[in-house]
Amino acid sequence: MLFRLAEPYLSVRNDLLHTQVAHQYCLRLLSAEGGDQRIVEPAVILHDVGWSKLPPEQLKIAFGIRAGGPEARRLNRIHEVEGAVIAGRLLQTLNYDPGLIEQITEMIERHDSGKHPESLEEKMLKDADKLWRYSGVGFRQEVERQGVGRHEMVRFLERLLSALFTPTALLLAEEELKTRAREIGTT
Ligand SMILES: [Fe+2]
Ligand SMILES: [Fe+2]
Repeated sequence: MLFRLAEPYLSVRNDLLHTQVAHQYCLRLLSAEGGDQRIVEPAVILHDVGWSKLPPEQLKIAFGIRAGGPEARRLNRIHEVEGAVIAGRLLQTLNYDPGLIEQITEMIERHDSGKHPESLEEKMLKDADKLWRYSGVGFRQEVERQGVGRHEMVRFLERLLSALFTPTALLLAEEELKTRAREIGTT
């Protein structure tokens, strides 16, 4: 249901697949790490709806391993802030608990820029978002979308391991990364 509501917003940057994969990871994190499913699941499903507020030509500047500088940061911030607003609205239409909506939208509002997650749920959102890039489909899509080499992407993902918060996410990422490295013949 929530996916259906989010879909029109996610299709703008082709983020539906990203979100579905992140959602699958979030379910695995929930079963291994615990955490409040009523918060984590909607947060993951809705975390990127804010990209729909940016025109396509600006989307390229805003993300990826080569993104940087104040303009990328400004655009990234827009997707967080607008995403929180849209997510809050969508959850209200479902009569979701207002206290939960508040927690979910606060997490979405800083899902990229926030460096110090305050709760297990927030850590899981950040981890599920990143795990997408380690998955087979996410790796291939990001390589193409960001125009980077596969070896460069593997090296980037090795560095990114230290940015994961939960032990389960680290385990999953390391496993996937081994497979990606094998696929491109680096091991
Ligand atoms: Fe995002
Ligand atoms: Fe994302």
